[in-house]
Amino acid sequence: MSTIANVEMAAAWDGEEGDRWTEQADRYEAAGRRLWARLVEVSGVTAGRRVLDIGCGTGKSTRDVAHLAAPGAVLGVDLSARMLDEARARSAAEGLTNVRFERVDAQVHPFEEAAFDVVISSFGAMFFNDRAAAFANLARAVRSGGTLAMLAWRELADNEWLLAIRDALAAGRTLPVPPAGGVGPFGLADSDDAAAVIGGAGFTDVAFTAVDHPIEIGADADAAFAFASTMGIVKGLTQDLDEETRASALTRLRAVLADHQTGEGVLFGAAAWLITARRA
Ligand SMILES: C[S@@+](CC[C@H](N)C(=O)[O-])C[C@H]1O[C@@H](n2cnc3c(N)ncnc32)[C@H](O)[C@@H]1O
Repeated sequence: MSTIANVEMAAAWDGEEGDRWTEQADRYEAAGRRLWARLVEVSGVTAGRRVLDIGCGTGKSTRDVAHLAAPGAVLGVDLSARMLDEARARSAAEGLTNVRFERVDAQVHPFEEAAFDVVISSFGAMFFNDRAAAFANLARAVRSGGTLAMLAWRELADNEWLLAIRDALAAGRTLPVPPAGGVGPFGLADSDDAAAVIGGAGFTDVAFTAVDHPIEIGADADAAFAFASTMGIVKGLTQDLDEETRASALTRLRAVLADHQTGEGVLFGAAAWLITARRA
């Protein structure tokens, strides 16, 4: 495996966080499906295209584009060995032979120059500790005129699902608001700042389209609570609470999830950017 620059992220994603995602892969893949469909649509992947998927996780977006790109080759990269194993198993189960997965840090991995027509990422390009270096590295990997298409979270205030979880678990605390542009879910949330980083790295026509789609946390309140309880945000917000406070915070979370039950499952508003650009 090549060098890892994002050591803390690698420890999380190649550790407990990646384990939890792998165990809940079906739930994550169901939760994200409405947003993914938009990403795949704008990526413009057609037969014969060579595609790179950054932070592919268990590989739902990788597999979806691999079906469209065949016989073109698709490479999914991620920091989590366990998520990649799951991605390989799922690809084999779908009979895909044009996709492969590698455990690399996309910020620094020496991808072959201009080897890809399209780079996509579904919420996997927000965790770089040096965004300028990372996007310059991705720009190197795309041929001139090639496409970049990514999903990333807009800011916390726009994301009902995150606000609802935080409010339910605040337990009297004033929780800090993670800054846009930092390493984490809001790494590309400020569109002006992110456009400057992506444009400065060698991409042109950088565009941000707001995508508001509900995400499904579970088919019903019980399923949603079981899934939410495994999420990093829920673990993080409850780990320092005493037993009694944690129990009442989780009871509140369960009630909030039940309030959002609809005929189509437990749904919350989610606000993402669909970011597109072209290699200059
Ligand atoms: C929020 S998950 C998204 C996973 C998947 N694309 C999805 O939409 O379900 C973020 C993923 O990005 C990966 N990731 C974060 N930083 C990375 C980096 N520097 N290089 C490669 N993968 C990275 C993580 O390991 C994790 O699997």
